[in-house]
Amino acid sequence: MPTIRFIDTADADADTIVVPIRAGAPLAEGLPDDVVAMAATHSGKPGAVEVLPRPTQRPSKVLLVGVGEGASGWRAAGAGLARSTARTASVTVALPTAEDPDIRAFAEGVLLGSYKFRLAAPRADGPPELAEVLLAGTPDEAALAAARATAAATTLARDLTNMPSDVKTPQWFAERVTEAAAAYPGLTVSVREPAQLEAEGFGGILAVGGGSSRGPRLVEMSWAPEGATQHIVLVGKGITFDTGGISIKPRDSMKLMRKDMGGAAAIIAATIGAAALDLPVRVTALAPLAENMVSGSAYRPGDVIRHYGGRTSESNNSDAEGRLVLADALAYAVARLEPDLIVDLATLTGANSVALGKRTGALYSDNDALAKALADAATDAGEQVWRMPLPPDYRDFLSSDVADLSSIASEGGAGGVMAALYLAEFTGPLRDRWAHIDMSAPSWADSDSSELTKGATGWGVRTLLRWLASF
Ligand code: BES
Ligand code: MN
Ligand code: ZN
Repeated sequence: MPTIRFIDTADADADTIVVPIRAGAPLAEGLPDDVVAMAATHSGKPGAVEVLPRPTQRPSKVLLVGVGEGASGWRAAGAGLARSTARTASVTVALPTAEDPDIRAFAEGVLLGSYKFRLAAPRADGPPELAEVLLAGTPDEAALAAARATAAATTLARDLTNMPSDVKTPQWFAERVTEAAAAYPGLTVSVREPAQLEAEGFGGILAVGGGSSRGPRLVEMSWAPEGATQHIVLVGKGITFDTGGISIKPRDSMKLMRKDMGGAAAIIAATIGAAALDLPVRVTALAPLAENMVSGSAYRPGDVIRHYGGRTSESNNSDAEGRLVLADALAYAVARLEPDLIVDLATLTGANSVALGKRTGALYSDNDALAKALADAATDAGEQVWRMPLPPDYRDFLSSDVADLSSIASEGGAGGVMAALYLAEFTGPLRDRWAHIDMSAPSWADSDSSELTKGATGWGVRTLLRWLASF
């Protein structure tokens, strides 16, 4: 990730200057005539970059970057700049003088647009990378600090989610996030191993993880600043690989299932981000982690599973595994953690992508104020959610003859809704203080687009951090 900081405008004597422009004109005053003339020919498209070489003058290169309207325009401009300057070590941005730039959106665009997933360190003799972005203009240090912490947390979530599942076991995930948390003395992490899960009755996590030689874990991370009045519990689905189990997935549906822990990555990264920003709200993150595999010890369709606290599920499709591990975590949160609000994030169903497409999370809650606060935070962050219904009468389709409820619906349709209604059963008296976000679609990008880089998007981290900052 490049460093990004403010410099005094008078000190700006760079080789490469970036000039944000809108409607054919630079947003900063006092630029050379040739730059102003070039700006008049720019398409104006947010994030589009045009290069003006000036071999005999200083600066020797000017990059004109289109800024659209509002935060999304600044985010696109930052990402466009990051992509076009990947081979330039340092650039200076001539910030607007006539308007206040959205520094947070711009910096998040720069930092997230330069993201690259790497399995190994870059080659020493490879091309240079963008190392430094200097902002010449009026400093807004608070906005920049928020952007840095948000981008670092989002990067952590992307790195965890992109990691191939031969490496990414439940244990590996638990170790990486424990290491990441160690940088913040106020964060505590506990990791439950299978014997402990057994002793405490986490039957959903154990059933789903039972088919893998690499056992399940439950990560519990806590940020408890002094004086906090609200306690938020975040729960995230952490399936480190989803084969579907005995109800095995077809090959094309399985190939990207390393991303099935994107919810766990997002809630853990957001909690670390809350610590980095020293947010005055108590946060507990619960990440139930398991690998859903096919083997002689795998759980079977028709098995009855006893969750944390004693409620039972008839599991008729081992590919509906996410809700089983989330059920344990939700029941535990309700019984033990005394939350004011609970939000879970999960790559839970393909059905919600059919309904809402690739870039929108599906939000479920009976609580209007909570739903609005989350949707506002998402919009502010440049992520999108759309509220979906929880029709009480559909609950009948989850009835079971042998267990308290069935993990899949007896009648077809509304796969995302039915999964959410299943989870709701484990929220007990906190049902109206709970929200569920299915982020299976937006957790992954098929191509680069603005601040999103092809692959894991870290979706949800930016929304959660803005929401947590509102307490
Ligand atoms: N991890 C999948 C959901 C998923 C699908 C995430 C595509 C990302 C992209 C989940 O565990 C799953 O398999 N869901 C099933 C539920 C069904 C068996 C009731 C689905 O959506 O088909
Ligand atoms: Mn599945
Ligand atoms: Zn899954």
